[in-house]
Amino acid sequence: MSEQLRSIEEQLARNAEYYGTVDTANITLSCFAKAALVALRSSEGQGFRDTVDYMIELRPELKGPTAVKLLERAYQTDLLEHDVSYPYGYQDEAPWLKTFSSVNVHDDFLRWGLLANNAALRNVQSCVDERYKTIKLFTSLVANRFDAPPTLLDVGSSVLHGDLKLVYESDPSSPVRPFQPIEILNDKHEKAKDERLTKLANVALSQQIQFGHVMGVDITDIDDVGTRRWARGCRFYPDELFQPDVVEDYDLLESTDPDHSRVSFLKGDFATMTRNEVVAASPVSTWDIIAFSTVFFQVSSSERIAMLLNALNLLSDNGLIIIQDAREVIVGMEDDVEGNFSIPFNYATSIIDAQRASDDYEEPVIAWENGRCQRAVFEPKGRIRVNGGDVPIDEALEMRFGNAV
Ligand SMILES: C[S@@+](CC[C@H](N)C(=O)[O-])C[C@H]1O[C@@H](n2cnc3c(N)ncnc32)[C@H](O)[C@@H]1O
Repeated sequence: MSEQLRSIEEQLARNAEYYGTVDTANITLSCFAKAALVALRSSEGQGFRDTVDYMIELRPELKGPTAVKLLERAYQTDLLEHDVSYPYGYQDEAPWLKTFSSVNVHDDFLRWGLLANNAALRNVQSCVDERYKTIKLFTSLVANRFDAPPTLLDVGSSVLHGDLKLVYESDPSSPVRPFQPIEILNDKHEKAKDERLTKLANVALSQQIQFGHVMGVDITDIDDVGTRRWARGCRFYPDELFQPDVVEDYDLLESTDPDHSRVSFLKGDFATMTRNEVVAASPVSTWDIIAFSTVFFQVSSSERIAMLLNALNLLSDNGLIIIQDAREVIVGMEDDVEGNFSIPFNYATSIIDAQRASDDYEEPVIAWENGRCQRAVFEPKGRIRVNGGDVPIDEALEMRFGNAV
């Protein structure tokens, strides 16, 4: 057995256990993992083995955690198209095994080919609008720096849902709902809610912020139907598909601004793109807020550095770069680390503040319980400049909104 296959099997075994006993809200993923292990170890489920073989052939560098995530998403994308009983009918191993056997290259070449190519050629492209509440939070904190509505450049924007949420959530004529409130905890372990910080953070989050020009950049063609289907298949944990509100919000954003007239889009690789290409694609030459949300974990360390340098060259004098990702990716920008999103409070937000001109940026300011960004703790070491002082985020919130609470 190859090293890569072993690493895939190990991850499947971990998921079977984790989603079966710890995170039982996602039982469908545990059933997927158990059935996948059976398919790899027995004569059942040839279709699954073919998908894995194809993936290994094309991406020998993929490690177990990423490979398994891609397999889960590829099968989900396929089933959302082909089986109306998904995910309701997939909370058991048997239907997964049936699918693994029935999807095969001889019976249905197009369906199998699409599934295998999604797994082997794409990257995870989940677009989670709730993650962009950090951008709102920080923009509220520094809004008084800017003479005009701040401009926003979102790198790795996927299908732009986060940007659309930022632009439309406070527009009374739009059905797009506001961000869900944040809960700030005073400790990662005890998880007790800090009432005052929670109120302050939500005051910041409920400010009316008008953005100037907003542009997303992504390496994929987000107007391609296949990319849209893949992004949708990546967006949900299977069991989130049982929550009508979450699905409804997604579909609403999906149908908002289809022509990119309010939020523009530039397709390309931000690691190799020149500053001029970005400037030529927009009416502005510098950007007040530049976001990298959950994108650095997908690229090599040298690409991260190239992307960051590009951002520094496009940042306005008072601007902020907001980076959120797995903690080890943010603090180890120069290392080839993959990022683990299943450790609680390992999804973190960090900022580079043009006004601070310091290299302390890598200290995260917020640690989120997970990438859905509902509960968080503030990190004591991270700093932002507010009213001329470099302060941690709790102090910054107190300075800006303390009177309102
Ligand atoms: C996991 S998604 C995150 C989407 C969104 N920012 C969020 O936080 O929900 C990562 C996105 O980064 C894009 N991406 C990866 N490498 C890129 C690059 N070099 N240049 C531009 N976009 C890139 C991927 O295509 C994908 O859409």
